[in-house]
Formats: sequence, structure tokens, C-alpha cells
Amino acid sequence: MADPIPAAKGAEAELLPSCFLGRDVLIKVRRPKRYRAAELDEELRSSRMKNEARLMREARKAGVRTPVVYDIDLKEFSITMEKVRGERVKELLDRDPDAAAEICGAIGRAVADLHNSGISHGDLTTSNMIMTNEGAICMIDLSMGKTKAELEDLGVDMHLLERAFNSAHPDLADGFRECMRSYIERKKEPEKLLRKLEEIKNRGRYT
Ligand SMILES: Nc1ncnc2c1ncn2[C@@H]1O[C@H](COP(=O)(O)OP(=O)(O)OP(=O)(O)O)[C@@H](O)[C@H]1O
Ligand SMILES: [Mg+2]
Repeated sequence: MADPIPAAKGAEAELLPSCFLGRDVLIKVRRPKRYRAAELDEELRSSRMKNEARLMREARKAGVRTPVVYDIDLKEFSITMEKVRGERVKELLDRDPDAAAEICGAIGRAVADLHNSGISHGDLTTSNMIMTNEGAICMIDLSMGKTKAELEDLGVDMHLLERAFNSAHPDLADGFRECMRSYIERKKEPEKLLRKLEEIKNRGRYT
């Protein structure tokens, strides 16, 4: 078995490459956190895992590319999912900044499709998106997402995405703006979202 994909610092989960019915898959396992009381720990691992599998399904129904879920194991707290072929958007933007406008346009459209069907992502960063070999933006890591998202949740998604661009891609001056442009073009009732986003930003400024 190959080395697991290194988990980000502080991350909850580990991703182990494996094989399922002849397909390359990743098993996302949530290991126990010893600093949490056992009961709470199991509850959190279980609910995040179930939520993530559900969100991947609902997002796909909304026309947003997500990994296919093959299996979930309620005892191991693991999801067996399609290993998506492509490159993480974070590395892709660093490697090919000339393609940024096109990539960011695609990000904005994918997020708008998600939001238009009432789904929030919950951790919208360029580390949680893969540009597939077929040229689609695939959303991953949806464990904090909601299917009955409020305007607030959608605003928080966009606020988080802006911050992710500022911290992970400080040299890509127009990256987030391009995401926003294509997002607004596609989003239903974009004015409401823009007002909410302003409100969220102001809150952060004064508290
Ligand atoms: N289905 C997939 N196909 C290909 N690569 C994946 C897939 N799922 C995850 N990865 C890779 O593994 C990394 C970590 O996965 P993920 O973002 O789901 O976990 P995490 O950030 O540790 O999770 P969490 O925030 O839920 O604790 C991703 O950034 C990506 O590089
Ligand atoms: Mg992640």
C-alpha cells in the first residue's frame, strides 16, 4: 500500500489509498481524538462522516462534481470514495498562474451551482477542490456543509474563500475577484448574497 496522503496539521482525518472492486479509492478515516471525551468524540466522528457522505451525494444531484462514495463504515468511521484524478486547485494555481482566470471562473460557477441548490460547503478553500483531468472542479471535504443552508452559511462560504485566496495565493491579485465575477453571474438573487457578505466582513472588522 502506498503512503497515505499527508493529513494537514490539525486535520481530523487520514486518507488511505486502497482498492475497491478493482477501482482506485481513498478511504477517509476519522481517528479518535484523545483530548475529547470518548462519547462526544464518537458522536462527532460519526456525524461528520455521515454528513460528508450525504453532502457529496446531494452536491452531485445539484450537478456539482464530487467523489463517488462507494461505502461507509459506521464502526471504523470511514468513507470509501473514488480517488479523483486531477490536481488540487491550490497547487494548480501556484504552478500555472496564467490559467488562473479560467480556473477561478470555473470555481465561481461550481460554487454558484452548489449554492443555488441550497447547499453550503463549510470549508471552501483551494485545498478542498480538485481540477479533474476532464476539466471539472471537483469539491471535496464537505463534512461541515449543510443542505438547508441559510444566506448566512452561503455568505460565510464566500468570506472563507476570499480569506483562503488572500492567505494561500497572495500573488494572485485578481483570483478571488474572478471567482466572484463568475459566481455572481450564475447565482440566483446575487444582491442578497453581496449584502450578506458585506455584513459578515463588517462584523469581522469591528469585533
Ligand atoms: N476523493 C479524493 N480524490 C483525490 N484526492 C483526495 C480525495 N479526497 C481527499 N483528497 C486529498 O486528500 C487531502 C485531504 O482530504 P480532505 O480535505 O477531505 O481531508 P481533511 O482536510 O483532513 O478533512 P477534514 O477537514 O474533514 O478533517 C485533500 O486536500 C486532497 O489532496
Ligand atoms: Mg481538506
